[in-house]
Amino acid sequence: MSDTPRTAIVTGGARGIGAAIAERLAADGHSVAVIDLREEDTADVVGRIRAAGGTALGVGANIADEEQAKAAVERVAAELGAPTILVNNAGIIRDNMLFKMTKDDFESVLGVHLTGNFFMTQAVQSHMVEAKFGRIISLSSTSALGNRGQTNYSAAKAGIQGMTKTYAIELGKFGVTANAIAPGFIETDMTKATAERVGVPFEDFIKGAVSQIPVARSGRPEDIAHTASFLASEGAGFVSGQVIYVAGGPKA
Ligand SMILES: NC(=O)c1ccc[n+]([C@@H]2O[C@H](COP(=O)([O-])OP(=O)(O)OC[C@H]3O[C@@H](n4cnc5c(N)ncnc54)[C@H](O)[C@@H]3O)[C@@H](O)[C@H]2O)c1
Repeated sequence: MSDTPRTAIVTGGARGIGAAIAERLAADGHSVAVIDLREEDTADVVGRIRAAGGTALGVGANIADEEQAKAAVERVAAELGAPTILVNNAGIIRDNMLFKMTKDDFESVLGVHLTGNFFMTQAVQSHMVEAKFGRIISLSSTSALGNRGQTNYSAAKAGIQGMTKTYAIELGKFGVTANAIAPGFIETDMTKATAERVGVPFEDFIKGAVSQIPVARSGRPEDIAHTASFLASEGAGFVSGQVIYVAGGPKA
């Protein structure tokens, strides 16, 4: 039996991992709100979902801004119905070695990954509690375990794991689960930007990453979307407060 169709929100859904998750949740039968900084950037993924017969809505919002996050959730509830699946995927990197990292590099990364996650989850949780069903899925990273040049990002991704466990504890009795996915190396614009920063052609950067990955290939956005689909499913209702590393092996 297939799951009840729900309303899902995917933040940072205009491209990369978020776009793949949005398309997968739509293929699973859910109506999907694709939130990204600029509404026009969501047009491609929204168009692909609709062309495949699904329901999607593009919403422009900076999730690190409390008012914009709240307004985005209200618009989704009004146009698609109460959201009961939330994928906190939006993210940025501002990599630099510790001795060169600025306060702005540090705070802007925490602002999107942690404060943005908090604003979105707080705005959506009342809909989940009322529905007695909810799935909160947040993107952590293998960088939570530490990564050169990522003091800010590793703090944010480790913080997401702590928030996830707290959401799981507080909201469990309302039928709401909260889990984190910690991807390893996934080929997206984000990893392309990292390759540019370290001055390595993307193809060589991918080869270097793959040489460290036990399954001997790089990750694809669809690998993460598959895990998100599982965590969003009704059958995953006894899985909560977990961090699933999706990295082609036990570590990045
Ligand atoms: N690519 C990887 O290897 C990898 C590995 C581990 C974790 N992750 C995490 O997965 C998530 C997606 O990564 P990706 O590689 O697809 O990144 P990406 O840079 O390709 O996409 C991120 C999206 O988030 C949006 N975004 C950024 N700030 C926002 C804000 N304040 N409000 C709304 N939208 C915002 C961007 O506009 C962009 O569309 C991120 O949380 C990232 O940290 C990625």
